[in-house]
Amino acid sequence: MIVLSIIISYLIGSISFSYLITKKIKKIDIRKTGSGNAGATNTMRVLGTGPAIGVLLLDVLKGVVCIIIARALGLTDWMVALSGLAAIAGHDFPIYYGFKGGKGVATTIGVFFMIMPLYALIAGVITLLIIALTRFVSLGSLFFLLFTPVFGWILRGYSAGLLIVTFLITILAYYQHRSNINRLLHGKENKLGHKKAQA
Ligand code: G3P
Repeated sequence: MIVLSIIISYLIGSISFSYLITKKIKKIDIRKTGSGNAGATNTMRVLGTGPAIGVLLLDVLKGVVCIIIARALGLTDWMVALSGLAAIAGHDFPIYYGFKGGKGVATTIGVFFMIMPLYALIAGVITLLIIALTRFVSLGSLFFLLFTPVFGWILRGYSAGLLIVTFLITILAYYQHRSNINRLLHGKENKLGHKKAQA
C-alpha cells in the first residue's frame, strides 16, 4: 500500500498548475520567465494576483489530497508523511514536464497543515508577518518550511518517524531554495511586487 500511495502522490504532485495556467493564458513556459520557478510567486510576476492565488490553492490542494488518499489506504503516520514527500517531489521534479518544476512550498503547506495543523498554523501566521514586513516570499517560505517541523519536534506530539520525514521535506525544500538563500545572503533577493526576477 505504501508503494501505491507514493506512486499516486508523485503522479498527483507532478501536475504543475503554474505551468498549465501560464501556458493557457500567456502561451509561455513559466520556467523560462521571472525566477524560472513553476510556482505561485512566479505566477504572480507573470500573470498577477488572481491567477497566483488560484495556483497557490491548487498546489496546496495537491498536498491535501495526497494525505487524504494515504490515510484512506490505512497507512501509519510516517508513511502518510512519506506520501506527502512524494507529492512534493512530484511538484519539484514533475514526470510530465521533463522533471523541472517548482520549489514545493504550496504543496508542503498542504501536507504540513494536514499532518501538523496547529504548528503549521502558528508557523503560517508568523510566515505571513515575515512576508508582509520584508516582502520576501522566499524568506517567509524558508521560515515555514523549517519551523513547522521544529515546533513539532520541540513541542512534541508526533512520532520520531513522522518528524524525520518532515525534516526530509524541509531539507528538499531548502535545496530547491538554494538560489534564493544565496540571494538573501547577498541582499539580492526579489521582493514581492517586483516584476523582474533572477532565476
Ligand atoms: O514558492 C517559492 C518562493 O519561496 C520563492 O519563489 O519565484 O521568488 O523563487 P521565487
